[in-house]
Amino acid sequence: MRNLHIVALAAALFLTAMSSSAAEPGTQSAASLAEAKVASSCQKCHGTTGDSVSPIYPRLNGQQADYITAQLKAFRGRRRGDTRAQGYMWRVARELDDKTIAALGQYYASQKPTQPQTGGALAAEGEKIFMNGDPAKGIAACQQCHGKDGEGSGSVPRIAGQHSAYFRMVMGGYQLGLRQNESMRAVTKNMTNRQIEALSSYLSND
Ligand code: HEC
Ligand code: HEC
Repeated sequence: MRNLHIVALAAALFLTAMSSSAAEPGTQSAASLAEAKVASSCQKCHGTTGDSVSPIYPRLNGQQADYITAQLKAFRGRRRGDTRAQGYMWRVARELDDKTIAALGQYYASQKPTQPQTGGALAAEGEKIFMNGDPAKGIAACQQCHGKDGEGSGSVPRIAGQHSAYFRMVMGGYQLGLRQNESMRAVTKNMTNRQIEALSSYLSND
């Protein structure tokens, strides 16, 4: 009788040990892998859901998963190399493996996106460029690639609801070639500062 109790106890302990080892890295689910990384790193700048408070950190909530994974790999491979990318994201991305990167993309894509804070005369000017471009200057309509609500698709990013300071900085970065992308270079090449301001008032949310 006593021996049976010991056997039962040993079996119970064994099962407990087995189930706690399921939480070890390697067997972790994608969601818990992402949550752990967000808690230990990303949230310091981007916030827990990706809705960052400071406008110098881009919002990631509701961003396209494929875009997030492509950017994290570009930081890791040192292909996205403007000053702030180097200063903030190179070190962070160096420590991420492909599995964690994929999990982080899913995590942020599933968070509720921030809506644009649109309105006013300048926003109306921005809406026109967003919908129709500016053919006289060779500027293509943003919606062609970013979708009619600026929601993005695949590796084309959501641009609606971003911080205006980050939006303006990124547009300037493409214009000067600090951040390299053929499509965005063509779009920004002949763009005036006023047009960037107008687009920002249509799309962004401070
Ligand atoms: C110390 C602050 C800091 C931490 C920690 C940090 N980031 Fe960033 N992140 C930034 C800054 C600043 C940028 C903008 C870089 C630029 O302007 O090119 C950025 C950009 C990004 C971008 C590109 C967004 C876009 O719209 O193009 C992604 C994706 C990203 N971070 C994901 C993460 C993830 C995932 C983590 C955690 C593993 C993380 N970041 C941790 C500061 C940080
Ligand atoms: C031909 C397709 C195309 C058109 C047209 C286009 N874009 Fe883009 N855009 C892209 C792609 C692709 C990227 C991702 C580039 C990269 O990886 O750096 C991008 C990136 C961006 C980003 C960076 C987002 C971030 O989170 O860092 C902004 C901002 C942006 N586009 C704004 C615009 C605006 C505003 C317009 C219209 C004036 C526009 N785009 C027109 C394809 C396009």
